[in-house]
Amino acid sequence: MNKIIRKLLYLSFLVSLSYGASLDSGEKVFRAYCWGCHHETSVAFGPSFSQIASKRTKGEIQGYIVAPKSMFEQFGHKRTVMPSFGDTLTQDEINKITKFILSFKGK
Ligand code: HEC
Repeated sequence: MNKIIRKLLYLSFLVSLSYGASLDSGEKVFRAYCWGCHHETSVAFGPSFSQIASKRTKGEIQGYIVAPKSMFEQFGHKRTVMPSFGDTLTQDEINKITKFILSFKGK
């Protein structure tokens, strides 16, 4: 096989690996910390990820994860029962779960 083609194939393999890994670890955070109250596309105790993704930006979602108590009124909720994950999750985990939530936009 041509060397350049082989290199290109290898590169696209690496890209797909890292893409898959980042979705996977977002899903891991979801299963460990959010699943009891949120489901992907159906409403549970809290709104579904597809609902959240359809109306919130990345910054809003990250803000809510860290500080629901200072954002629930602005988001139109009468009260908040969601715990803050500011001390539980690393910034990396927050980025990954936010990407995971936004992957349900339109689903
Ligand atoms: C104990 C249950 C519970 C857990 C655990 C929980 N949530 Fe929530 N979440 C809620 C409820 C209920 C709401 C609705 C408003 C409120 O109570 O703050 C909400 C609201 C939200 C919102 C804003 C929704 C909107 O658009 O109005 C986001 C974003 C969110 N949760 C993300 C997460 C993420 C990410 C996790 C996991 C790291 C998580 N939640 C874990 C119960 C929970």
